[in-house]
Amino acid sequence: MRLREEDIIMQNMRCRESADYLAGIIKGSPRTAVILGSGLGVLADRIEDPVVIPYQEIPHFARSTATGHKGNLICGRLGGKQILAMQGRFHYYEGYNMREVTFPVRVMKRLGIENLLVSNAAGGINNTFRIGDLMIICDHINMMPNPLIGRNNDAFGTRFPDMTRAYDRGFIGMMEEIALKQDIELRKGVYVGLTGPSYETPAEYAFYGRVGGDAIGMSTVPEVIVARHAGLRVFGMSVITNEGYHFDEDFVNDADDVIRAANEAAGKMTALFGELIRRIG
Ligand code: HPA
Repeated sequence: MRLREEDIIMQNMRCRESADYLAGIIKGSPRTAVILGSGLGVLADRIEDPVVIPYQEIPHFARSTATGHKGNLICGRLGGKQILAMQGRFHYYEGYNMREVTFPVRVMKRLGIENLLVSNAAGGINNTFRIGDLMIICDHINMMPNPLIGRNNDAFGTRFPDMTRAYDRGFIGMMEEIALKQDIELRKGVYVGLTGPSYETPAEYAFYGRVGGDAIGMSTVPEVIVARHAGLRVFGMSVITNEGYHFDEDFVNDADDVIRAANEAAGKMTALFGELIRRIG
């Protein structure tokens, strides 16, 4: 759909209204926001002095319907710093359009957020990855519609934003150091973002592995593109919840197994994110 100038003005007005509403509720001036993926919403339970704002109370926010996702914006302290956390995100496969999926990122920008930390559950396509592994996202391959299609919203960024270092090198280096100190082993790799909602066939997993992917999922990339467009620094991490490179005779991909595996890794990830926030936030 082509966006007209009036649509951009409307979008920016909605964004301003959401941000103004939230600014009246949240405490302090958080610089870091976290988007919590499938099963990782428990990280939100570690947030101190939380103020929980259901998405349905925020003007112009969509509602989260995905399995394993709650729909709350949480403001509070993690790693000793004031943060904003999205407990549950909006996925393209739920039927939202890309502007709805990425709207919260622009609201964050309007609220003064500078750093965006994103997490997700992902299928491992690198055959050295195992269920429960954590992977630093170093780069991505976007197989979804680009959320910036349409007239450029100059209030946020440029028409052709650079994606050479979409995932901040400084943050990646810090996280490697933190993991070493905490004795947590990390993987690094390329995240492939697809629309879903069907899982991939064995041939598709193999295909995305051959073209450079290490992990595959149905989120994250739209938010990262919009965040980079708006000049936010981004860090991303995937929990490997299933292995997409070998399939037993009776294997069936199952969303409950994915959530369970993500939940089991949430403790490690919370510790890592908490320390990263302590350093940057
Ligand atoms: N494919 C796509 N998305 C996913 C997967 C997968 O194997 N696992 C968790 N999210």
